[in-house]
Amino acid sequence: MINVDLKGCKSFITDLQLNGYISKAEQALDILNSGTGAGNDFLGWNKLPSEMPHTLIDECLETVDKWIAKEIEIVVVIGIGGSYLGAKAAIESLNHQFQHLMGISRGPQIVFAGQNLSEEYMAELMDLLSFKNVAAVVISKSGTTTEPAVAFRLIKSLIEEKYGEKEACERIVAITDAHRGALKSLSDEKGYKTFVIEDNVGGRFSVLTPVGLLPIALAGFDIEALLEGTKAMEQICDDNSANNPAIKYAAMRNALYDAGKKIELLVGFNPKLQYVGEWWKQLYGESEGKQGKGIFPAAVNFTTDLHSMGQYIQDGERTLFETVISIQNSRRDVLINNDPLNLDGLNFLSGKHIEHCNKMAQLGTKLAHISGGVPNIEISIDQIDEYYLGQLFYFFEKACGISAYILGVNPFDQPGVEAYKKNMFALLDKPGYETLSEALKKQL
Ligand code: PA5
Repeated sequence: MINVDLKGCKSFITDLQLNGYISKAEQALDILNSGTGAGNDFLGWNKLPSEMPHTLIDECLETVDKWIAKEIEIVVVIGIGGSYLGAKAAIESLNHQFQHLMGISRGPQIVFAGQNLSEEYMAELMDLLSFKNVAAVVISKSGTTTEPAVAFRLIKSLIEEKYGEKEACERIVAITDAHRGALKSLSDEKGYKTFVIEDNVGGRFSVLTPVGLLPIALAGFDIEALLEGTKAMEQICDDNSANNPAIKYAAMRNALYDAGKKIELLVGFNPKLQYVGEWWKQLYGESEGKQGKGIFPAAVNFTTDLHSMGQYIQDGERTLFETVISIQNSRRDVLINNDPLNLDGLNFLSGKHIEHCNKMAQLGTKLAHISGGVPNIEISIDQIDEYYLGQLFYFFEKACGISAYILGVNPFDQPGVEAYKKNMFALLDKPGYETLSEALKKQL
């Protein structure tokens, strides 16, 4: 189970102060669960684990079986933001990190597109797709987002040219709104298999819908185990008391924020967690960063980044706190060998697990950073597997909703994301943006 340890914040936040924020978090949880807060038409994610019909899992697995039968080698998952980060986080955490080089895989290899507008990225992806057996999952709730729409236009053409229009329909799945958007119209027109993103689930809260589940299943991972983890966490996170890890986390991060700690570093001591950090950054950044408020979410990977960011964290401006995802057990064993010459002086580590060194690095870093003025929240899970990732996803979503309500913002909108889109459309001379285009070009 997830454990949230707040002892590393004791010298920064008193018990009395924390209790005040725990009360606020309990009120926020009531508001969230009763659906009486801002953005309450986007609460579908809250009960997804317990209310998900098994038929949805079966439907995902049908697509997996169908594409395995076709011996698909590469599935391109096309999406951006909440429409790709959850799947990417899970797949990167669960995959063997060198599987591409070892030529091993549990299913088709998953590659991502539509999460940037780099021409070189797309050209190199097309190089790969030109000689592989390919299928695609295109994901866009709105169905109108530019980056995935551009990528899908190109990949759809490639698949149609390679396999013909009819077979292309067997190799393209769309995940989008039930009724609206260009992707929905296109899917209906072409007859693609579609999965629906319900209206009441926002993009960054959608990892436990087909948006996350289908790519994760296609990569060969156990989505039933993932959902079991989320179900267990849904129950735990409904406890309206200080025992609830989501309440503890949301309360402490707000207490720290009000005490001047404006930047939260999500810390992993395992490179597999890099994209969990990216997913978490979107979840918290887009949910809380509004109305001139919000903790700035950043993510680091230790011990790697201790050799690049460590100096600042130890000694720079004192506006940081750390939230460490602590993994209790390594799923693999590597012992440090004895070397009779011992010229590197490392024989004191002979016979020890590398993970033991990692744990001591973690502990040493925690003590050093706390004494340097950086509070430490520790979130522990047993190991990196589907079950615990499911727990982590739901835990962070629930804590995010609670935390944003304590902060006094609507966690479920993202008005600020529109500004760059309008400018981009104007600069690309999209019809309808003529006035803005003229105004912007004068500024250049
Ligand atoms: O959380 C969000 O709503 C956003 O990050 C979206 O997921 C992202 O902008 C992609 O949107 P769409 O799925 O509509 O293409």
